[in-house]
Amino acid sequence: MVKKILFVCLGNICRSPAAEGVFKQKIKERDLEKLFVVDSAGTGGWHVGNLADPRMRETALSRGIELMSRSRKIEESDLYEFDHILVMDNDNLYALKSLIKDPESPVNSKIKLILSYSKNSQLEEVPDPYYGGQNGFDKVIDLLDDAMDGLIDSLIN
Ligand code: 4NP
Repeated sequence: MVKKILFVCLGNICRSPAAEGVFKQKIKERDLEKLFVVDSAGTGGWHVGNLADPRMRETALSRGIELMSRSRKIEESDLYEFDHILVMDNDNLYALKSLIKDPESPVNSKIKLILSYSKNSQLEEVPDPYYGGQNGFDKVIDLLDDAMDGLIDSLIN
């Protein structure tokens, strides 16, 4: 059965589009594309309709990943529509949990920090690169690349 995966950050122009791109690249490489529907969204709506930040697109492209997504703001219905929701940091986690009215809802267990799947990093959160330099964008891809292998392994086993 197809699994629906949603990546979430604040603006949906840096980290979560990159996560979507890395995930799609990896499932393509592993011939698993038919098993997944993949999307991303932001908890904030400032950049709705925009392509990913040019710095993030360029960094992803340097790793062979073309980011095509347009920013959108998360909707409450996404929490029910998607099977797995991976957030970049604790602010995103709290923002999504605040949309859930019933604290006992099974939706709570769908939402996880993406770096909880990391194999090699001790970091808990993917740092927001928006106000920093180029190395922040490289770091985003490095962290996501590592965590995505763990995520995909957990989803197919
Ligand atoms: P993202 O990065 O959450 O990884 O997409 C940001 C993008 C935009 C802003 C903040 C973070 N902003 O303040 O506009």
